[in-house]
Amino acid sequence: MTSVVTAPRRAEAQTRRPRRVSILGSTGSVGQNTIDLLLRHRDEFTVEALTANRNAALLADQARKLSARFAAVADPAEYGVLKDALGGTGIEIACGRQALVEAAERPADWLMAGIVGAAGLESTLAAVRRGRIVAFANKEVLVCAGALFMREVATHGATLLPVDSEHNAIWQCFDFERADNIEKITLTCSGGPFREHSVERMQDVTPKEAVAHPVWSMGAKISIDSATLMNKGLEVIEAHHLFQLPSDLIDVVVHPQSIIHGMVAYRDGSVLAHLGSPDMRTPIAYTLGWPDRTQAPSKRLDLAAIGRLTFEAPDEGRFPALRLAREALARGGDSATVLNAANETAVHAFLAGDIGFLDIAATVERTLEAMPPGRLDSLEDVYNVDRVAREVATKMAVRRNRPLGG
Ligand SMILES: NC(=O)c1ccc[n+]([C@@H]2O[C@H](COP(=O)([O-])OP(=O)(O)OC[C@H]3O[C@@H](n4cnc5c(N)ncnc54)[C@H](OP(=O)(O)O)[C@@H]3O)[C@@H](O)[C@H]2O)c1
Repeated sequence: MTSVVTAPRRAEAQTRRPRRVSILGSTGSVGQNTIDLLLRHRDEFTVEALTANRNAALLADQARKLSARFAAVADPAEYGVLKDALGGTGIEIACGRQALVEAAERPADWLMAGIVGAAGLESTLAAVRRGRIVAFANKEVLVCAGALFMREVATHGATLLPVDSEHNAIWQCFDFERADNIEKITLTCSGGPFREHSVERMQDVTPKEAVAHPVWSMGAKISIDSATLMNKGLEVIEAHHLFQLPSDLIDVVVHPQSIIHGMVAYRDGSVLAHLGSPDMRTPIAYTLGWPDRTQAPSKRLDLAAIGRLTFEAPDEGRFPALRLAREALARGGDSATVLNAANETAVHAFLAGDIGFLDIAATVERTLEAMPPGRLDSLEDVYNVDRVAREVATKMAVRRNRPLGG
């Protein structure tokens, strides 16, 4: 079991102080939570590079506050804003896709992969190819590139530290030395804002309602994925690669309070669970400090005040996305790449008001049907399949119950 490497060399790098860190996607929800922790531990970290897509104003503010050496914005149209804000500070700036790769390649002891979507593949891969310790939040990278990405991790001696709260929890309970003792793992799932909605009621939900997650505060895309349960499907695929387990050993249980994040069941009947308040600063802090622990301000658990923890099976009838993700994993080849690209396209269309909520999973299903599984032999294949699947999904993304734009 080498996917989450815990070799002593790595642990040594993590205890060096101050440690040099970089954040890909520093202006996002994961990125801002990471910045919050860094600001609380100023003496322990120096910041090498920060990146954003378009939010140059926030990026510049973060770079100033943390005295970053390099700030890069993906969208060249925002370069002027960055230049005006950081002129005279001595902070190097750049723009465009290659600038993100440069940010990932600059020397760092620890790098947060916090971009959303397959757009993070190129830069995360650049960090992996430098053998970095990568705090891994950008799950779509692993869903779309899968085994090829894990091969790069192994080849370049990189280390992935899972940030997703469920995978971070499982990592903390997983006996990597004696993985044969493990019977299964369980990812918990809040159920999202529409857990109790009928299919009819979900038909007309708005992006605003879908983004309003009942427990977690997150970026728009993952919030929609949580509402459709595609997020859990993507996480099953992520867990498959990180922990090298088949899909049938990766359970999902709906747990609306989101207090238990993940569980590992052993062959003697023991089940180790990880608990904590739903606050991403806890799993991020674990990756920042690993193998030590970093102080995080997350609300401390008061189980007596919470009173009840409840669990239910996910309803794949009302939420087909989870089934689609498992099917894509079972089909193998490039199916997970297609699933991810179709989902990103459909979520984007839903957020733009072009399709309805139920059309998201329908779009993914139709795209998978239209694209029989193909081989995924190289990263070039990943980029090609991703591009084609987005084109197919765009054609498939139509409202079932009304004309486009109606
Ligand atoms: N949010 C959570 O609590 C959470 C929990 C577990 C896992 N994750 C995973 O972590 C990742 C980030 O999620 P998030 O919620 O933090 O997303 P988010 O709030 O939407 O932030 C995304 C970040 O990526 C940047 N970005 C977006 N598109 C980009 C592009 N094409 N090229 C370069 N940079 C781009 C954004 O820049 P701008 O700000 O300039 O747009 C922002 O910095 C996702 O894969 C998500 O599934 C998130």
